[in-house]
Amino acid sequence: MADRLSAFRVALLEWYDSNKRDLPWRASSDTYSVWISETMLQQTTVTAVVPYYERWMERFPTVGSLATASEEGVLTLWQGLGYYRRARNLHRAARTVVAEGWPSTYEGWLALPGVGAYTAGAVCSIALGLETAAVDGNVARVYSRIHACSETDTKKMARKWAERLAIGERPGDVAQALMELGATVCTPRNPACGRCFARASCKARAS
Ligand code: ADE
Repeated sequence: MADRLSAFRVALLEWYDSNKRDLPWRASSDTYSVWISETMLQQTTVTAVVPYYERWMERFPTVGSLATASEEGVLTLWQGLGYYRRARNLHRAARTVVAEGWPSTYEGWLALPGVGAYTAGAVCSIALGLETAAVDGNVARVYSRIHACSETDTKKMARKWAERLAIGERPGDVAQALMELGATVCTPRNPACGRCFARASCKARAS
């Protein structure tokens, strides 16, 4: 089982290296860029987020510029992404970061306004290289397809699986690769099984 998991991990990273999309926030693993992009990406697709992210980074290129911005300015740039609470929390959290510095642990991230398990796991793995998992709907679907598990405990099981996969080198790429696989291959409808490196061992594919 441990062998199967590590073989999956190797294949996942190989697939990601040759198939990952060229996205603006992948140009660097700067903490601020990762935090802003992952916050925007919750409940919104990559395609929809790109123009918002680019505008935001032009207007607020650093955490300091966000902290000193007016709330009105912040909300204006967020307009269209929905869930304004998220923008207000980013603004508040930026002030905390300016006062206290960036958190360096998963728990430290969870303590910031608006940061939940998903954001903390994504930022810690992608920006800080910590062995944490980020489980969104895409990752849960990939997990449930590969293992053909029932809907009821998918999220919890997917989290355990992703946490085990995070252990080792490149945890941030593992997190992004799982999301990328769900978003581009293992899609909700008409999954592109022909292009999936895991098709031979996928339970959903077999049935
Ligand atoms: N969805 C949310 N964050 C993502 C990321 N970093 N890569 C791909 N899809 C994502």
